[in-house]
Amino acid sequence: MSNIYDVSESNLNLAAETLKSGGLVAFPTETVYGLGANVYLSDAVAKIFAAKERPKFDPLISHIADIDFLPEYALTDERIMALGKKFWPGPLTIVMRRKDNNPAIDLACSGLENIAVRMPAHPVALELIRKSGIPIVAPSANRFKSISPTTAHHVRDSLGDKVDMILDGGQCSVGVESTIIDLTGKQAVMLRAGGTTLEALEDFLNEKVLISHGNPNLPSAPGQLLKHYAPGKPLRINATERKDGEFYIGFGKISDSDINLSPNADLEEAASRLFAYLRFADRQENYSGICMSPIPETGLGLAINDRIRRAAYKE
Ligand code: TXA
Ligand code: MG
Repeated sequence: MSNIYDVSESNLNLAAETLKSGGLVAFPTETVYGLGANVYLSDAVAKIFAAKERPKFDPLISHIADIDFLPEYALTDERIMALGKKFWPGPLTIVMRRKDNNPAIDLACSGLENIAVRMPAHPVALELIRKSGIPIVAPSANRFKSISPTTAHHVRDSLGDKVDMILDGGQCSVGVESTIIDLTGKQAVMLRAGGTTLEALEDFLNEKVLISHGNPNLPSAPGQLLKHYAPGKPLRINATERKDGEFYIGFGKISDSDINLSPNADLEEAASRLFAYLRFADRQENYSGICMSPIPETGLGLAINDRIRRAAYKE
């Protein structure tokens, strides 16, 4: 029997019970599918690392459904609350200080003094968090370093039976992970480009947001690893034409591409299709490589370029 479940009241209840009792539930968010566990049960959190084959130094994002809960859970300030009120629910993760009286979440935070929190903009995710009554920690529901999942079947392909339930909420609308902003210091720092644009954050904060490129060997975000989100076939980016044997993923007005992320050069559309198209290209048996058109470095283009540069990185 498949572990993919339709979204229904009874399946949501079952998923909430599964989480509460220490199981793993994959669920849709607006960005990508998450592999969820109860933040307070370290055994359950450890199962996430095992299922993803992810190194333990990696801290996880806590997903919440109500901003009023945030001050109970972490150390907040005016800037954090203002940002949450403006951008949540939505594809923005805020890194803030932990409260020191909460050792139960040590594993989820990898022992760091900071915690990453977001409120996803997906009715299934929000309902699941509410029904469970706990913050749900969830990385993307794929094996470490591979392509992030934007459908329930991607999760199934990547993790198989290592997850107790996969809630099928259809295709993710944003398609790239959340933007991560670190607000623990005086100056805001973007740790990962994602579904919320740098322009929107700077506009609202009325300050320059620094961009962290991190230390790729000791990343504070795994997205900072040089090789990440990678298909099996070699990927060549900024390609204006195909070479022999390449499957061509176009963007904008390209006549000879095999598929096109957005013929009208719409970056939101391109982001929402990115991971599914990379998977599709990777499955094409008659091609030995993949190439992709240049993508502009504005708006969601920052997140797209970040992902494909890492996917194209040669070790
Ligand atoms: O859109 C998303 O953010 C998706 C969905 C499922 O919500 N989740 C996601 O999780 O992308 P993951 O684990 O693949 O990436 C989370 C990133 C990691 O790069 C991790 O290092 C960073 O968040 N992170 C978590 N806690 C952190 C902390 N305390 N300080 C700095 N970075 C942190
Ligand atoms: Mg990930």
